[in-house]
Amino acid sequence: MQHRTNQPDLAAFWMPFTANRQFKADPRMLVSASGMHYRSADDREILDGTAGLWAVNAGHGHPEIAEAVGRQLRELDYAPTFQMGHPLAFEFATRLASYAPDGFDHVFFTNSGSESVETALKIALAYHHARGDYRRTRLIGRERGYHGTNFGGISVGGIVNNRRVFGPGLPGTDHLPHTHGLDGNRFARGMPPHGAHLARELDRIAALHGPETIAAVIVEPVAGSTGVLPPPVGYLAELRAACDRVGCLLIFDEVITGFGRLGAPFASQALDVLPDLFTTAKGITNGAMPMGAVFASAGVHQAFMHGPENLIELFHGYTCSGHPAACAAGLATMDIMDRDGLWSRASEVTAHWESSLHSLADLPHVADIRNLGLIGGIELNPRDGVVGARGYDVFTEVWRQGCLIRVTGDIIALSPPLIIAPDQIDQLVATIRAALLKVH
Ligand SMILES: Cc1ncc(COP(=O)(O)O)c(C=O)c1O
Repeated sequence: MQHRTNQPDLAAFWMPFTANRQFKADPRMLVSASGMHYRSADDREILDGTAGLWAVNAGHGHPEIAEAVGRQLRELDYAPTFQMGHPLAFEFATRLASYAPDGFDHVFFTNSGSESVETALKIALAYHHARGDYRRTRLIGRERGYHGTNFGGISVGGIVNNRRVFGPGLPGTDHLPHTHGLDGNRFARGMPPHGAHLARELDRIAALHGPETIAAVIVEPVAGSTGVLPPPVGYLAELRAACDRVGCLLIFDEVITGFGRLGAPFASQALDVLPDLFTTAKGITNGAMPMGAVFASAGVHQAFMHGPENLIELFHGYTCSGHPAACAAGLATMDIMDRDGLWSRASEVTAHWESSLHSLADLPHVADIRNLGLIGGIELNPRDGVVGARGYDVFTEVWRQGCLIRVTGDIIALSPPLIIAPDQIDQLVATIRAALLKVH
């Protein structure tokens, strides 16, 4: 048996969302991490511009999280949460609810963002059913939305590559228009000025299908995976109003915006618009253990809490919902977020972040720059006929120069740990500048 080598055989692991053959010919391997940095297998320090995958909000390598997980595994390694309980799951749910907007007092545990999305969509459908409104079965997403990779998520999602070879998906879905690339929005700082009216497209969709058939709308408050699309000014409030007119639920997918990314615990607080349900994952354990959670408003939760008390109210859950070690990691993460003042940290660095990113506006191939909270997007013009090639070359050049960024097609997406220092922002931006000057 091979054990703990930095040079393993690469064949067996079918890597997710990866060009496997290209990667395995020239692998980029991370072997350890601390604070703002990874260490690569070739022993270089890599500045983390992406918090792993939007997950390590409090920075890498907190011993408190490792100790909490180890302690928990020694004490109670696993316990079912179907008709059974263990104290930490209740403690963590209560703790999580304390950061959420008032009234979001109920938390359903999952193991990933994708599972959180499926859970929220199913709760929305079951909510209407529980109230006797059996016609509301349609789920509305948005073009360019990313809601994970399970069937519900790709059906309401709006990324063609994630859908095209997987069949027709869920029946009864439809999509709002995306808010990308509108005239007058290029190089906007923070929320772009134009596009709030696009939320009213929900009225058109509702008129087409019948408003009484719409169960829920799901959107990311800031779309991440399709290249960082902050909501236009007023858009989310318009969408909330449109959902109220239609009588459907509004779900925010906060898998990337949750846990401090926008300068408040959740986007609903930072952007001051309340959904009925919201999904989370990633930063919930600082990426240290797989976990997700769906937060439900009192009204949604209450709709299930009637009928005979011996009946299961929601036929849904996962073997590892509320896993003891994940709860331990999550509680330790919340302690660190509190102790280190990370809930508001993104708003403290926004001004420096924004001006640094926008200093790249004059570089060759830069088509747009977008930012909100501690999120940044740099959109490059694609090379003629080869979408994504320039983005990939910039990504590998930045990696060679000692930083980790993420590209989706030709858009650079940045989401560093919230602990990033101003000089590290400067280093990240200088490295991207150098790569953009080198790559043609
Ligand atoms: C908005 C959003 N929803 C859902 C997901 C899926 O999360 P996971 O990969 O943990 O399933 C992601 C992942 O990036 C995401 O950005």
